[in-house]
Amino acid sequence: MAAVLEVLRSDWLTTGPRVSEFEEAFAVSVGAKEAIAVSNGTAALHASVYALGIEPGDEVIITTMTFAASANCVVYQGGTPIFADVDHDTLLIDPESVEAKITERTKAIIAVDYAGQPCDWNSLKSIANHHGLSLIDDACHALGGNYKNRSVGTLADLNTFSFHPVKHITSGEGGLVTTDDPGLARKMRIFRNHGITTDHRERNEQGSWFYEMVDLGFNYRLTDIQCALGLSQLKKLNGWVKRRQQIAKLYNTEFSETLGITPLGLKKGVSHAYHLYVVRVDSNVLGIDRSELFNALRAEGIGVNVHYVPVHLHPYYKNNFATEAGQCLVAEKAYQEILSLPIFPMMSDEDVQSVVKSIKRISSQVLPR
Ligand SMILES: Cc1ncc(COP(=O)(O)O)c(C=O)c1O
Repeated sequence: MAAVLEVLRSDWLTTGPRVSEFEEAFAVSVGAKEAIAVSNGTAALHASVYALGIEPGDEVIITTMTFAASANCVVYQGGTPIFADVDHDTLLIDPESVEAKITERTKAIIAVDYAGQPCDWNSLKSIANHHGLSLIDDACHALGGNYKNRSVGTLADLNTFSFHPVKHITSGEGGLVTTDDPGLARKMRIFRNHGITTDHRERNEQGSWFYEMVDLGFNYRLTDIQCALGLSQLKKLNGWVKRRQQIAKLYNTEFSETLGITPLGLKKGVSHAYHLYVVRVDSNVLGIDRSELFNALRAEGIGVNVHYVPVHLHPYYKNNFATEAGQCLVAEKAYQEILSLPIFPMMSDEDVQSVVKSIKRISSQVLPR
């Protein structure tokens, strides 16, 4: 609050010094060369797809187990999203499914570090290199995670983040792209500012009124007010990720002996950032299905959720891109079984025990089917 107030008392509410301070601090924290702050995670994805030059006729392969924004960004640029299936244990994009969907029109792959666990980036990179494709990591779930000792934010050509309040750190709304490619970074800086080559502060410093719009961009700027909050939150990131990991460990221990509730698989060599803690509900064992358990837990005031309806099943994609059930069978089956349990840094060990107790009590009250 103090950091935000300081900005409110200053001369620059937007396009001011806090924006580059936040970008620099973020780039250092993940080890990327460039960071471009934008107004939300969706804008970060849109800027990335724009910078890669995706246009009508181009196909981009995307995991179907994600929030719709991961695919919508391709449509904004007139491209065609092609949905890939996921690995059964982790629900991360399945490199074999990606390979099977590549055509001569494929230009890029958008993989999501679902729930906070980094994807199989070595396999994705070798597929991308082999076919000359660009890679986007939609890392909106995975800030603070790493893959084989490399930080999330450095794993793909472009890496996108969201600072929506449910994410690891927040700026109210906000987003950011990291890249090591200065050419892509420059394109995105212009894109977030209407396609205009200089911003207000640069013109002020140059004492010039002249500017040129060189391409069609958007107003996707993040304000200094938001960046001040982001900077302050960034300092707390490591501790918060550690706490999320502790909570996940507590749940894992509890569920190792709870038949019918299985946490998603954790791969070797990764550090999971646990934006979400997702379990599979086996209705044959538990006696109730995922939706019944969801309703019973919500009735007790426990904030469970389901992430996600596979994107290819949304009516918009069915109606406009002829997607249909049966295209991504692993994700479709998982969607019937998954439940996201509460996880947030301020959650106490007692809160975790109370969620586990409720699940055990609800399932023990069920009569065998
Ligand atoms: C995987 C994923 N991608 C993109 C987004 C979009 O981020 P935002 O809500 O900041 O636009 C979200 C956030 O909801 C997300 O979870």
